[in-house]
Amino acid sequence: LASIEVDVSSLTPGMSLTAKWRGKPVFIRNRTEQEVEEAKAVALADLKDPVARNANIAPDAQATDIDRSAGEGKENWIVMIGSCTHLGCVPLGQAGDFGGWFCPCHGSHYDTAGRIRKGPAPENLAVPTFSFVSDTVIKIG
Ligand code: FES
Repeated sequence: LASIEVDVSSLTPGMSLTAKWRGKPVFIRNRTEQEVEEAKAVALADLKDPVARNANIAPDAQATDIDRSAGEGKENWIVMIGSCTHLGCVPLGQAGDFGGWFCPCHGSHYDTAGRIRKGPAPENLAVPTFSFVSDTVIKIG
């Protein structure tokens, strides 16, 4: 399937689900206000990978929280390919030193915006092409 639609109506803040798209896991998380605030508070200079890696915006956009998220008005939502940018293991959610995702294979820590902060992974978790087709349904691809 080229694209899938995922019902996210059950995700209250702090909850996430993993969909499958093109054979890969896709993490969808409804972030809490605190998780968003933590990600926003990070200086871009502190990021290992300063690029947003978001297929929905310019390829050279910076990895600000808003540009990693679903954007203005939907900044609580984050959608990412669940494949560690080191060697492709599936990171665990709400884990690691930065409260985001942690890859147990070789110890990569991602923050609450899915940005690589520590460990061998070179890039932020990739944000695939997606859009909200309604308030509660996300189309991926
Ligand atoms: Fe994730 Fe190596 S595959 S740290």
